Amino acid sequence: MNQWANRLVWSLSVMLVLAAGTEAFWNGNVQVRIYNSLEYTKDLTIHCKSKDDDLGARVLSSGEHFEFQFAPHMFKKTLFFCSMAWDGQSHWFDIYEEDRDGDCNSSRCTWDVKQNGPCTVATGTLLFVCHPWNK
Ligand SMILES: *[C@@H]1O[C@H](CO)[C@@H](O)[C@H](O)[C@H]1NC(C)=O
Repeated sequence: MNQWANRLVWSLSVMLVLAAGTEAFWNGNVQVRIYNSLEYTKDLTIHCKSKDDDLGARVLSSGEHFEFQFAPHMFKKTLFFCSMAWDGQSHWFDIYEEDRDGDCNSSRCTWDVKQNGPCTVATGTLLFVCHPWNK
């Protein structure tokens, strides 16, 4: 084999190993659970979607949660976004963003929705972080 063919074979092998590793990492579904943690016991209307799925709108009483699962794609970045409304105001948030969230806490992503935005423990840390609503 000439040098280029050699490099090509080497690169393909490395990609295969990485792909296999990613597959193992993602072994199974990711679960996203979203709690209505609005102050002053407000109902929260939540409606989540991805490019391919519409999960439908529902109303959560204070402390209730909405939950969904999905199988991440290996070569496609997964994104789920939700509208969240209460008291006549409505906001958007990217509730699952692969680069930000990865496999969350062992494939469980938990959010507390508050007036100023959704909060969660940041992936790979012990820090509880509140995010601003999408612009
Ligand atoms: C991760 O999940 C486990 C089990 O649900 C829980 O006990 C733990 O507190 C979570 N860790 C973080 C950082 O949220």
